[in-house]
Parts: sequence; C-alpha cells; structure tokens
Amino acid sequence: MRTQVGIIGGGPSGLLLSQLLHRRGIETVVLEKHSREYVLERIRAGVLEHSFAELMREAQVGERMDREGQIHDGFYIAHGGIKKRVDLRALTGGKTVIVYGQTELTRDLYEARDQAGGILIHNAADVKPHDLASPHPYLTYRLGEETVRIDCDYIVGCDGFHGVSRQSIPKEKVRTFERVYPFGWLGVLTRTEPVSPELIYARHERGFALCSLRSPTLSRYYIQVPLSDSVDNWPDEQFFDELRRRLPAGVSEAMITGPSIEKSIAPLRSFVIEPMRFGKLFLAGDAGHILPPTGARGLNTAASDIHYLYHALVDHYSQRDDRGLESYSQRALARVWKGQRFSWWMTNLLHRFPDSSPFDERIQETELAYLFSSEKALALLAENYVGLPL
Ligand code: FAD
Ligand code: PHB
Repeated sequence: MRTQVGIIGGGPSGLLLSQLLHRRGIETVVLEKHSREYVLERIRAGVLEHSFAELMREAQVGERMDREGQIHDGFYIAHGGIKKRVDLRALTGGKTVIVYGQTELTRDLYEARDQAGGILIHNAADVKPHDLASPHPYLTYRLGEETVRIDCDYIVGCDGFHGVSRQSIPKEKVRTFERVYPFGWLGVLTRTEPVSPELIYARHERGFALCSLRSPTLSRYYIQVPLSDSVDNWPDEQFFDELRRRLPAGVSEAMITGPSIEKSIAPLRSFVIEPMRFGKLFLAGDAGHILPPTGARGLNTAASDIHYLYHALVDHYSQRDDRGLESYSQRALARVWKGQRFSWWMTNLLHRFPDSSPFDERIQETELAYLFSSEKALALLAENYVGLPL
C-alpha cells in the first residue's frame, strides 16, 4: 500500500489531521492500535478553546459541536469557603470556551472519516515506522498473521504519550523535559445535573477539587489523590463525601450525587520532547507533550500542533513550499511551552503539595488574593485559559 501521509494513532489528533488533509485532497492512512469502542470509552478532555473549535469547523465536523456544545463565558475559583468568578468574556474582549467532550468530538471525527471513505485501520498491532531519516519512510503493522507495509511521503506520530513514534527517534537526537507531580486526579462521571453551570476549580487544605460537566445532565467531578491511590479505595459515597469537604458550603449542599458511570485516576505530569521532528517523522499532540489537566490545555495544545502541521503539509503538496514543514517543530514548541507554563502555574496555584511548607502555603494564598484584587492578573489568567493566539 502507498499513501502520502501515514498517521500513527486514531485519537483526536490523528483523526483531525486526517480529516483536514482529506478536505484538501491529501491522502492519509490512520493506524490505530485499539478498537473504536475502546477509544470512545476514554473519558478525557471537556473544555475546548476557540481555535480548536475553528479547526473542527474547517474540517467540516463542527456541526454537532456547535449545536450541542455549551459556550462558557467564565468559570469559578473557590478557596477559603467562597467562590469567585473569572469572567472570561469580559476579561478577553469577548472570548469564551466550549464545553464539548473529547468522546463526542472523536465520535464526530470517526463519522466524518467513514463518510469520506477514509482509511482508518483499527486493532493494528505492532505498528512500526521505518527509514525515517531516508527519503522513503514506511510503516508496517500486523493484522492477524499478515504484516502489511505502507510506503509514505511523511509519517505523523499522533499515538499519545505511550505510543511507538517518539520511541522510534534515536535518543541522542532529542532532549526531553519532564516534571512528575506527586499526585493524580481521581475523576468520576455521573448522570446527574451538574452542581454549577460553570466549572468550579477549588483549592482546599485537603487537596484540589474540580466540578466540571459534559452536558446539562452529565457531571464530571475530580479530586486530587496521592499517586499511590487506587480507584478501589474510593466507593462513590466516599468520593462525594471528600469532594463536598473541599467545596464551599453552598456548593456542597446543592450537589446532587448519583452512581458513577466511569471512575479513573490520571497522574499529573508535564513532558516535552525537542524537537518534535526526526527526518520524515513529525510528532503531534500527546506523542510530543503532556500537560497537567489543570489548565485544560492538553487537547487544545494538540490542536495547535495539528493546525501548524496541516498548513505545512498543504503548502508542501499544493505549492512545493517546505518552509512550514521546516519550521513546524519550532512553531509548535513555542506554543507548547506557553501551555506548559500556564498549566504549571495553575497546578501550583491550586494543589496541595505533600512537601509544602507553611511559607509555600502563604505564597499560594497570597497569589490567589492578588489574582482577585487585580484586573490585570485576572486578564492574564483569562487570556491563557481561552487560548493564546496561534
Ligand atoms: P491520544 O488521545 O492519547 O490518542 C492517541 C491514540 O494513539 C490512541 O487512540 C491510542 O490507542 C493510539 N496508539 C497508541 N499507541 C499506538 C501504537 N503503537 N500504534 C497505533 N496506535 C497507537 N485536554 C484539554 O485540552 N482540555 C481538557 O479539559 C482536558 N481534560 C483532561 C482530563 C483528563 C482526566 C485527562 C487524562 C486528559 C485531559 N486532557 C484535556 C488532555 C487530552 O485528553 C489529551 O491531550 C488528548 O487526548 C490528546 O490527544 P491525542 O490524539 O494527541 O492523543
Ligand atoms: C474535564 O471536564 O474533564 C476537565 C475540565 C477542565 C479541566 C480539566 C478537565 O481543567
């Protein structure tokens, strides 16, 4: 088999790139290790920035997102028993975010790829990129007994943090940067009315908590837990008791609880690889970087990689202009690091660190007090949360 762009990974990054390129007449093959059902069961991102939504529209897959997604003009930060609003729209001159689940947008992308007759191979085992430093790279994968080869012009690694693409780059060609936090987020999804129509991020001495949502009838809640914890230690009732303790009284009292339909722990980590390219291989999304979820930047940063790479590939195929491909890594990384800085800042602001001293705690309290006493400080938070310009 032969294609122009071979894409490893059928998560949001891989599917979005494939759909965008298809619209511009560029052929792709997407190789996904898991089944479609498995990919759709993962409950992950919920908050999309404006430029992500624009990219979905450009790919002609934004219709349901625009119909069912909820525009959020602001969110709350709770601490010291009260909650204060961050008015995104007012602070950014009209910008907002959209609450629309990663599961839903992945479903929309699958549908679009199916309708266009796109080649998307699920359960592709042992995917391997080859000859990346040569002009003729190719992919192999196993389907049952058979090993299939796909010759490509370019290969794009969209296979997430644990994928094969990043591992295929010789260690001496890259530098990695990492911070592992000593805690994770225990997340629960319930079919209940959300306690607040806007997200509430809570700082509390028992640890961070977040009240989020997917729709008016689907709530997503998180609490900070130690890295060593396990979902088995958290029956629903215990989870909600702990969540309530970390929220202002008015919020806890209003909370409607119900049985969890999903429960999982996500460790918090920051990671970046530089450069995000090796020969004919380009990395995009979680394959190249992981952001802690506190600033809701992960998927949004993946989308900015896809934006740069999409335009670079279009320029290559339509005008033989390779400047976008040559500068891809540099441009993508500049935005990745801004997202990292913001997520790091928000993680530090709102979490309880096991080794924090009374001094550190006062600094955290002062940072929050300062934030809500200064329009300028709030505006910085808001402009990062809605997404910096591409
Ligand atoms: P992935 O979604 O990881 O997709 C990679 C795909 O590649 C997978 O389908 C995988 O099966 C496949 N794959 C892996 N290895 C191979 C292989 N060897 N061969 C073939 N296929 C392979 N981001 C936000 O912007 N906003 C949020 O509100 C937000 N909330 C989050 C909440 C949680 C709890 C978590 C965990 C993450 C959150 N994120 C958020 C981050 C976001 O979910 C990720 O950044 C996003 O999933 C990245 O998409 P991706 O397509 O790059 O990678
Ligand atoms: C979510 O709804 O899953 C979510 C929302 C905001 C975040 C992280 C996750 O910052």
